[in-house]
Amino acid sequence: MKTFITGGKGQLGKEVQKQLEEYNLFVTDYDTVDIANFKQVEKVLYEEKPDIVINCGAYTAVDKCEEDIEQAYKINALGPRNLAIICEELGAKIVHISTDYVFGDIFLGNTLQERIENAKLLLPLKEDYPCQPINIYGKSKLLGEQLVRQFSSKYFILRTAWLYGDGNNFVNTMLNLAKSNDTIKVVADQFGSPTYTKDLVLAIKNLIPTKFYGTYNATCEGICSWYEFACKIFELENIDIKVVPITTEEFSRPARRPQYSCLDNFMLKLHNLNSFRHWDVALKDYIIDERI
Ligand SMILES: NC(=O)c1ccc[n+]([C@@H]2O[C@H](COP(=O)([O-])OP(=O)(O)OC[C@H]3O[C@@H](n4cnc5c(N)ncnc54)[C@H](OP(=O)(O)O)[C@@H]3O)[C@@H](O)[C@H]2O)c1
Repeated sequence: MKTFITGGKGQLGKEVQKQLEEYNLFVTDYDTVDIANFKQVEKVLYEEKPDIVINCGAYTAVDKCEEDIEQAYKINALGPRNLAIICEELGAKIVHISTDYVFGDIFLGNTLQERIENAKLLLPLKEDYPCQPINIYGKSKLLGEQLVRQFSSKYFILRTAWLYGDGNNFVNTMLNLAKSNDTIKVVADQFGSPTYTKDLVLAIKNLIPTKFYGTYNATCEGICSWYEFACKIFELENIDIKVVPITTEEFSRPARRPQYSCLDNFMLKLHNLNSFRHWDVALKDYIIDERI
């Protein structure tokens, strides 16, 4: 079974290579195959004739997408479309990774306390919750999903969130900041589910032998705020640092972020394929077992 990987040097791409060794991998990244370039995609896929394509390539810099709009859409929408068209011609399955940011904003209240209390009352969003992205990254990823569905009959779309693994991510940012600060301010009114690439690749591994095509939420279990996530990282690393909870308004960024984007892996549960661990168990695995 030949498996073609795009974005192989990214966080997810690296984990795919670790866990899917037996899948006869052909690994590419931006420098070898630009998924936004249809001719390149067509040529290499016709040469390699894979049975499965796993698209780990994406424009993931959420704030930069706001000013680099055309490039964001080229990579996040046309890229998966190009792959889906050729996969369909070859009869190959396509695994495409999407995001919690395809969903919109949910109003949680005006004060930090209200937002924290209301977030705990909400139920995580199932796959059929209406999409209404509020930033360019989310909009470009949503169009990517729609185009994959339009052109492929054998697709698995996995929506993940707050991803960390081998690469640039929130965990590493916090640990780097802790080297030169004794106090860190972290947003406490945005809620999601931190997800370890190891858990996401296991979900991909569980789905690809099946014919259960469709769209899946794919995040670790449980929810937290970025503030709670940061506190847990420092606790597990035994770092003594003051973490100050702040609001979204106090941490202004170019791209708006949804306040609540916690996902329910409902479709995976229906198939008895939900192998995701609780986010703090997965984080402990990453910090204690992987980073030491
Ligand atoms: N990171 C998160 O928190 C998060 C959250 C939700 C969903 N996701 C989704 O999860 C997937 C994997 O994310 P990740 O964290 O592994 O991303 P990542 O570490 O940023 O890796 C993305 C990879 O794609 C490559 N790439 C960029 N443009 C490309 C192009 N035109 N053609 C081929 N490759 C290209 C990048 O290369 P360069 O580095 O050279 O640009 C990089 O190696 C993405 O679909 C992302 O949207 C991520």
